[in-house]
Amino acid sequence: MSDQTALDIQNLYVERGGKPVLHDISMSFLPGEITALIGANGAGKSSTVLAAAGAIPLKSGQVLLEGTPISGLSADAIRRRGVALVPEGHNVLSTLSVLDNLRVAGSHLPAKHINAAVDRVLALFPELSSRLPIPAGALSGGQKQMVLIGQALISAPKFMLVDELSLGLAPTIVSRLAETLQELANEGMGILLIEQFTTLALKIAEHAHVMERGRVVFSGTSKELLADSSILHSAYLATG
Ligand SMILES: Nc1ncnc2c1ncn2[C@@H]1O[C@H](COP(=O)(O)OP(=O)(O)OP(=O)(O)O)[C@@H](O)[C@H]1O
Ligand SMILES: [Mg+2]
Repeated sequence: MSDQTALDIQNLYVERGGKPVLHDISMSFLPGEITALIGANGAGKSSTVLAAAGAIPLKSGQVLLEGTPISGLSADAIRRRGVALVPEGHNVLSTLSVLDNLRVAGSHLPAKHINAAVDRVLALFPELSSRLPIPAGALSGGQKQMVLIGQALISAPKFMLVDELSLGLAPTIVSRLAETLQELANEGMGILLIEQFTTLALKIAEHAHVMERGRVVFSGTSKELLADSSILHSAYLATG
């Protein structure tokens, strides 16, 4: 039985390059909560969110949004239903202006709604306001991450899947971004936060899932996970 408010991943199997990379992955994300997805390099974190967002195909299993299956829909259709992905790598459209980066993310919206959506993003990230006309490629790493989160927010998602929030960013920027995620969760958004390093994620997440070699090896509260160091220890040694 699926929670009628959740984003539910059920029994996902995924292959990439002809090799199985996800084995029977099930996890659930609640609105108004940050959930951490952690695990070593190659554990399958990105594959899980790419599959949930419709960016890579499922071999079997399903994804339900508020009880309704969304797996099999296109990535665009899934985004329109309310599941937005912030992909890893901080890849903005570097030759386009910051404003155009935000506007293209709203190309599926009626024109009159795009400006309001961009204004909502600028209210969260006022740092971007003075940068709107410059090419996004010229931004700092932290500002690029703001643009990518902003792109995801343009469609006012119910759930946002953030792949590697902190990679390569200075700790002060990471704390600043983490505060924004907490603000969004307080307003009711469900947020999945992928992190290779656990300190930040477990500090701000209520629940956590740990992956190891394409499998879920722990699902529970962050508190439970922090109390049992053997799970994380094993997950980070299992990089083979
Ligand atoms: N484009 C691809 N083609 C084929 N195999 C891939 C591709 N991307 C990832 N893989 C493989 O899928 C498995 C899971 O990788 P994935 O990127 O999901 O892990 P991850 O947990 O996100 O790792 P990282 O912390 O390095 O981002 C790995 O074995 C990886 O080599
Ligand atoms: Mg990854």
